[in-house]
Amino acid sequence: MANTHGRVIFPPSCSIIIIVLQLLSCSTPANGKADFSIIGPKIPVLAVLGENVELPCRLSLNISAEDMELRWYRNQPSQVVHLHKNGTDMKEEQMREYQGRTTFLSAGLDQGKATVKIHNVTVFDNGTFHCNFKDGNMSAETRLWLMVAGLGGMPRIQVQAVQGEIVWAQCTSEGWFPEPQAEWRNFRGQPLPSMTHLSASPTTGLFTVVSNVTIQDGDVQNFSCCISSPLLQKKMVNYHLLPQLSRSSLSKEWKIVLPLIFTLAGLVTAGATCLYQKCQKDRNVGQLEEERLHRAEEQHSQDWTEDKVIYVSPSLDPDTTSPKLALSEDGKSVRRLFFDQELPDVPSRFDQDPCVLAREQFSAGRYYWEVQVGQRKAWNVGVCLESLNRKGRIPKAPQHGLWALELYKKTFWALAFPRVRLHPSGPLHQVGILLDYDAGRISFYNVGNGSLIYSFSGLSFSEPLRPFFCLWTHDPNPLTIYSECQPPEATGPPQSQGQERVGTLLQQDP
Ligand SMILES: *[C@@H]1O[C@H](CO)[C@@H](O)[C@H](O)[C@H]1NC(C)=O
Ligand SMILES: *[C@@H]1O[C@H](CO)[C@@H](O)[C@H](O)[C@H]1NC(C)=O
Ligand SMILES: *[C@@H]1O[C@H](CO)[C@@H](O)[C@H](O)[C@H]1NC(C)=O
Ligand SMILES: *[C@@H]1O[C@H](CO)[C@@H](O)[C@H](O)[C@H]1NC(C)=O
Ligand SMILES: *[C@@H]1O[C@H](CO)[C@@H](O)[C@H](O)[C@H]1NC(C)=O
Ligand SMILES: *[C@@H]1O[C@H](CO)[C@@H](O)[C@H](O)[C@H]1NC(C)=O
Ligand SMILES: *[C@@H]1O[C@H](CO)[C@@H](O)[C@H](O)[C@H]1NC(C)=O
Ligand SMILES: *[C@@H]1O[C@H](CO)[C@@H](O)[C@H](O)[C@H]1NC(C)=O
Repeated sequence: MANTHGRVIFPPSCSIIIIVLQLLSCSTPANGKADFSIIGPKIPVLAVLGENVELPCRLSLNISAEDMELRWYRNQPSQVVHLHKNGTDMKEEQMREYQGRTTFLSAGLDQGKATVKIHNVTVFDNGTFHCNFKDGNMSAETRLWLMVAGLGGMPRIQVQAVQGEIVWAQCTSEGWFPEPQAEWRNFRGQPLPSMTHLSASPTTGLFTVVSNVTIQDGDVQNFSCCISSPLLQKKMVNYHLLPQLSRSSLSKEWKIVLPLIFTLAGLVTAGATCLYQKCQKDRNVGQLEEERLHRAEEQHSQDWTEDKVIYVSPSLDPDTTSPKLALSEDGKSVRRLFFDQELPDVPSRFDQDPCVLAREQFSAGRYYWEVQVGQRKAWNVGVCLESLNRKGRIPKAPQHGLWALELYKKTFWALAFPRVRLHPSGPLHQVGILLDYDAGRISFYNVGNGSLIYSFSGLSFSEPLRPFFCLWTHDPNPLTIYSECQPPEATGPPQSQGQERVGTLLQQDP
């Protein structure tokens, strides 16, 4: 065995592992390219579901691979992921699963480098790949591994039963890969014992988590369900607050409606890509908070429940709905009717103004929600006191317990006293509302570019606040409350691991 330039020259025995000589005698061909090997990533490549991933391979020598046959395959050479031969991509030989889903990146091909990019990673891509470079008689290959991981949807918490001091709740979330971990915590941040069941979808291979908890603690004010991906080191947390009822009012009726009312679903994603990619990208409120987030990461484990902005998706309350309005079935959307509906005239209902409140009542903490106003030509979006009078024309001003924005006749107003005319330069299709009850501040953001539109501050509240909406004019466009954040879209592999981000995103507030 000789060694020139650190390369191995083949002995007649051919007992070489790295280099596979396919058709052939053990002599080194005259062109001197025989002794190449292929180098690929040595550790598994992390790929995020739905995103793109690159599988780079290169020759051990700085020689051109332009005339070589380059094959990326799964377990058998016939299971072609991508084949590049004679200067072109040979699509006919690809496995069905990879058709239209790969791109050959030829940058560096003249120096022996080539990469195949797989688009829209699926569970199928998890596992082993090979790349094989063939030059005439000679061929060499290496193995590489793809580790697919995906964040599922925001966990949904459903209270299944309440009996005295005991609450049974279930948390569900779909779309995870590989198996996620589930954890419940009480408001003190202590883990609660739970029963978790995972199941994989036969069609997509994605995991669904169902976790049950029994909370025995007498004062269950709020609790959270956290589903995390150990591979991505990211998690999605949903909080549920029990409404501010006295225990004794947990009557039989309550038990029946409870699952419906506990929709106060706050998404505090400690690093949930949701927050970070979609919410952050589409709704880049508070982009400047990165640094603070990093700092918050460190404290995260200690201050689990403190200083959080809770992302909520309020549900509209049918008992407050004006007869001029109609709610969608899920209670997240409201539109204006041409004729009044027949509805019982209960004290909680707006009888003249086309307005509606959400069911949620906030009496401490910080909450953030987003409303799609879209192309609607006239609306109010804001917050009011629970005691707001619902009958007759509602005076819309802070001294009457209402803090809102208004669009009317193409003009935007902050309904301060006196009113403040706003001049947004761009379109305003989504309004983000940040209520900081304790600090006495209500801020409105343009979700489109993350800018603050207006902030009411220096307030102090002595009773619960509720989200408030009015739909002026017979405009068919509804107002819609965002339900949740979707899992990430394709943007490329995660930059680094351990990106835990707590929901302090909106803390800065001017
Ligand atoms: C490979 O060789 C080419 C010239 O043949 C040279 O320009 C290039 O820098 C070399 N690349 C590396 C990585 O050594
Ligand atoms: C290689 O491609 C050239 C044109 O690009 C074609 O003329 C030739 O027949 C091809 N050779 C093989 C073996 O496919
Ligand atoms: C990505 O793959 C999924 C599952 O195969 C499919 O539903 C989705 O439409 C694909 N997305 C794109 C952008 O190709
Ligand atoms: C995914 O692939 C990795 C190797 O890349 C393997 O270790 C792991 O078991 C696979 N996971 C599943 C759920 O198949
Ligand atoms: C394989 O290598 C041998 C010896 O170098 C040569 O005679 C033969 O033509 C080669 N075959 C091909 C297909 O290149
Ligand atoms: C949960 O309740 C406790 C007190 O009961 C409170 O201090 C904490 O801020 C609450 N957490 C959330 C997220 O509302
Ligand atoms: C959770 O509770 C439901 C009923 O409330 C039950 O059907 C289900 O089997 C339980 N799941 C687990 C994992 O304990
Ligand atoms: C965002 O849009 C608003 C209203 O359209 C505009 O007034 C503001 O200048 C924009 N801010 C940024 C940072 O682009």
